[in-house]
Amino acid sequence: MSKTNMPEGFLWGGATAANQVEGAWNEDGKGPSYVDGLIASRDIKKRYAKNAPEDSYFPSHQAIDFYHRYKEDIALFAEAGFKTYRMSIAWTRIFPNGDETQPNEKGLAFYDNVIDELIKHQIEPILTISHFEMPQYLIDEYGGWANRKLIDFYANYAKVLFERYKGKVKYWLTFNEINMAMFLPQMALGIRIDATDEEKYQAIHHQFIASALAVKHGHEVDPDNQIGAMLGYAPIYPLTAKPADVFVAKQKELQKLFFADVQLKGYYPERMLAYFASQAIDVHFAEGDLELLADYPCDYLGFSYYTSTTMSNNKEKDLSEGNGILGERNPYLEESEWGWQIDALGLRFGLNVLYDRYEKPLIIVENGLGAVDEIEDSGEIIDDYRISYLGAHIKAMQDAITIDGVNCFGYTAWGCIDLVSAGTGQMSKRYGLIHVDRDNEGKGTLNRTKKKSFYWYKDLIEQNGLN
Ligand code: BG6
Repeated sequence: MSKTNMPEGFLWGGATAANQVEGAWNEDGKGPSYVDGLIASRDIKKRYAKNAPEDSYFPSHQAIDFYHRYKEDIALFAEAGFKTYRMSIAWTRIFPNGDETQPNEKGLAFYDNVIDELIKHQIEPILTISHFEMPQYLIDEYGGWANRKLIDFYANYAKVLFERYKGKVKYWLTFNEINMAMFLPQMALGIRIDATDEEKYQAIHHQFIASALAVKHGHEVDPDNQIGAMLGYAPIYPLTAKPADVFVAKQKELQKLFFADVQLKGYYPERMLAYFASQAIDVHFAEGDLELLADYPCDYLGFSYYTSTTMSNNKEKDLSEGNGILGERNPYLEESEWGWQIDALGLRFGLNVLYDRYEKPLIIVENGLGAVDEIEDSGEIIDDYRISYLGAHIKAMQDAITIDGVNCFGYTAWGCIDLVSAGTGQMSKRYGLIHVDRDNEGKGTLNRTKKKSFYWYKDLIEQNGLN
């Protein structure tokens, strides 16, 4: 029985991505993904170093070994009372190179087991089809998403998943943080880090079409399927009330929303076409593309929220680090140890912006605080800072739902179990409610320990939110 005024059936849970938890990077027929070649470093450019020494430590190779420990981990999620678990499928477990026509049965069987285990514990799976897990082969042989052929490879991959997990999985997300491809072209698109905007927008156009085809196939296989878009969202505030600052911030915000505009409204906004024309960006649309976008928009919008950002018209900018979205430092906000500014009210703000704009159901599929945790002599981890971050954000979400009337149907805490950071490859940047004994060099027992936040979140779910 709900002890709050949150809607019954609200999907509380946690979220992870395959390459950040599974490990077993070359087991049971899995092919290499782009991330499998990344080393840990806070400097993103160093991570991409192709000629890293042979004995370098590659964090994704073992990650937190979810591949062999999923039963134990899912039991912990169930103990916390999770109603949902957002996870991703590693494309290279299903299609080791990415362009095969027949899937790797062992890869499919692994996810059968994980999904069945979730269902056994009444945990609703939410599957991300592609979460920064590009098959390396598609990059080497085809040039990544620059190549239109990837649309068919992805559509076939998605179809295989819809057919295999039919009746078990209802919620899907086509591409993780599709807008982040502008900042992470290698990881998200498999193209050069210094690709031009034209190259990036063309590759993203291919992803839009692939996403529309996934919606088509997903609905054909099972009309109950709900196929979502996924945006990395950080509202952009003007640094001051100067009209020039307000205008720049608005322009940047609209450029970010463009991704969800295409996927949810089903068309390129005039504004974006005008922007392409003004910048001499020529994105090629093949025959039938615009019809596909119009006919198969996504059913809902999932988004991540960690921080807000700020923009001004100034030439000299005081930049903050937040989530790769290089915005300016907001003087009114505190920041995490990794320089991500903390703004709980921005989540309520964002929920209002997104619901007002799309009028489709929303779900927060990532939110959390990356922080260094200390283990007490007693073995406990007293992560009050995480509880305070999550609590403030959940309060903001609840206000958006119960006061502002936003339709948001779930909240999944990012990295509910400690995992490898996507941005840095570090383990020390911990988001978890559950601690994993592993360090930045890959040392540790991999034992799981419940943090104070685990018990706090369990109580919160039991009451259906903050009281
Ligand atoms: C999101 C990604 O951008 O941010 C996740 O979808 C990622 O994969 C999360 O882990 C947090 O970023 P980081 O760099 O702290 O791992």
